[in-house]
Amino acid sequence: TTSVENVQEMVKKDPSSVPERFHLITNNDDNSNISTVSSDVPVIDLSLVCDGNEEEIKKLDSACADWGFFQIINHGIDEEVLHGMKNTASEFLKLPLEEKNKYPPKDIQGYGQAQSFLTSKEQKLDWEDVLMLFIYPLSYRKLEYWPTSPPELKDAIETYSAEVHKVAEKLLRVLSVMMGMDKETLLAMHKEVMHVLRVNYYPPCPMPERVLGVSAHSDSTSLTILMQDDDITALQIRRDDGWLPIKPIPNALVVNIGDVIEIWSNGKYKSIEHRAVTNKYKARTSFASFLTPTPDVELEPLNQLVDPLNPQKFYKKITYFDYVSSSLEKKLETKPLRKNA
Ligand code: SIN
Ligand code: FE2
Repeated sequence: TTSVENVQEMVKKDPSSVPERFHLITNNDDNSNISTVSSDVPVIDLSLVCDGNEEEIKKLDSACADWGFFQIINHGIDEEVLHGMKNTASEFLKLPLEEKNKYPPKDIQGYGQAQSFLTSKEQKLDWEDVLMLFIYPLSYRKLEYWPTSPPELKDAIETYSAEVHKVAEKLLRVLSVMMGMDKETLLAMHKEVMHVLRVNYYPPCPMPERVLGVSAHSDSTSLTILMQDDDITALQIRRDDGWLPIKPIPNALVVNIGDVIEIWSNGKYKSIEHRAVTNKYKARTSFASFLTPTPDVELEPLNQLVDPLNPQKFYKKITYFDYVSSSLEKKLETKPLRKNA
């Protein structure tokens, strides 16, 4: 593998140009087609869902089936916890590069790599730097990758992630029931709900019409929970033959269904392609929590979701580990991710 230049430093040195490797969007891509026909992604009140409000649960069911993306409000995470995560991460990101490079990435954890699977000098790059950390299970936590400056960051990550984990468990219980199973079944199928935090930092970019913060992909997770800046619209989802922006709602979290739930639900719930665009004026930070099963878990549609009206859509039984490996290979071919493994 080759190493990738830090994008934040690159912009500091030369704010007005973009190396060829970052030029992702070409004129014959369908990439500029911004969807305006669609309404905004559904907003779900999680406290109503957890109280068993039938209307809200129906809304969640159609959000998962028709959208694959939704925002949650009343999720139970205190504003101070959200802000604590944002503020301490922002302090870390402002540190000089030498300081941040004390946590170089290895086995996907650490600060720096936007492309942990980079294999060639020709591969196109995303306009971002990342900090990636395993949160759960605790045996995967490697504190040598957890920044010690500012000193409050470690606690902020632990607290925020523990709260997000609770939200994920709540959602997985409701989804389990919505999929026709016992409330604990989906959680048990993970063996353990694994949890990775990825802090994405997108510096301002002088060529936003050519350069993406994150190029189009679907998540090979069960669920992804995202906290984003309140004042920058950058995340877009594929919808109605175009890209639909998700407008941030202060203190809300964006949730999306990942490939694992799509497979388990036999396609009832959708894992939707998405991307993050760049802008000229303002840096953006987002916090993605990736929830997945353990690597040895086997993926295939659940019996409860397969019947004569809904024949099995995904045929090959595959371990989660092999699924992720094959998704990465497809990414390297720079083709859009195929979901039927
Ligand atoms: C991602 O989907 O990988 C990042 C999304 C974002 O930063 O909004
Ligand atoms: Fe994603």
